[in-house]
Amino acid sequence: MFSSADAYERFMGRWSRRLAPALIDLADVGAGAEVLDVGAGTGVLAFAVREAIATARVTGVDPSADYVAHAAGASADPRVAFEVGDARQLRFATASFDRALSLLAINFVPEPAAAVAEMARVTRPGGVVAAAVWDYGGGMEMLRVFWDHAVAEAPALASRDEAHLPLCRQGELGALWRAAGLVDVVEAPLTIELGFASFDDYWAPFLLGQGPAGAHVAALPAARQAALADRLRRHLLGDGPDRPFELGGRAWAVRGTVAPSSR
Ligand SMILES: C[S@@+](CC[C@H](N)C(=O)[O-])C[C@H]1O[C@@H](n2cnc3c(N)ncnc32)[C@H](O)[C@@H]1O
Repeated sequence: MFSSADAYERFMGRWSRRLAPALIDLADVGAGAEVLDVGAGTGVLAFAVREAIATARVTGVDPSADYVAHAAGASADPRVAFEVGDARQLRFATASFDRALSLLAINFVPEPAAAVAEMARVTRPGGVVAAAVWDYGGGMEMLRVFWDHAVAEAPALASRDEAHLPLCRQGELGALWRAAGLVDVVEAPLTIELGFASFDDYWAPFLLGQGPAGAHVAALPAARQAALADRLRRHLLGDGPDRPFELGGRAWAVRGTVAPSSR
């Protein structure tokens, strides 16, 4: 599902890059901050932190060796480093970071509560833990439209619709953050527009096998891929000619503070 960095960049990296600055703002990353990026993938958030705050240092952690190699190879900047690791068991000492962030990843960790506990542990008292997850059930229209038609074409797929992923509904991230003992918890929607140059610009990245939607398409026989593409094209363009179009992209985000008296 998360195995090819170049494919991920074409499928989702181009959109997570647009979302990253809003999460950095929400987390209030300041000058000189030591930042952890959990589920860093191809390095989108880590590089956005570097762009936004010249003096910040970022460490990105992700279990996908291909994504980590891609991220590490993308820059020789000593302020940004990447390594293979699992959010549930971070190798870092307690209170090592000022900020622990995670963009579009915590919902994919098998035990998200363990990941948040680790993010809180490695963040210093008074530091901030923040994350964002696409609103798969509604506001992430690129995937919402896809799953609506994939399930209409094959109703047995309903349980694989990403709307069932944990933490993608309003309030869920906040509840998880409070349960982890984080304080001053604030939730916010983060919204971008996804602009597609053509139907192929929307559809072709689904063929690359990344994420649950891409994994589904890649496993379909060619005739069913074509049938699904046809349904989606009619939904997005009607009977008209190919043209550029826009879809909404909303994520739910949360920030919480490690209680100053927690250690
Ligand atoms: C949708 S990608 C997001 C990547 C990147 N943060 C971005 O916004 O482009 C989800 C990421 O979660 C990572 N992931 C899955 N399980 C994980 C785990 N147990 N610990 C940390 N990251 C994990 C995947 O390898 C993948 O890179």
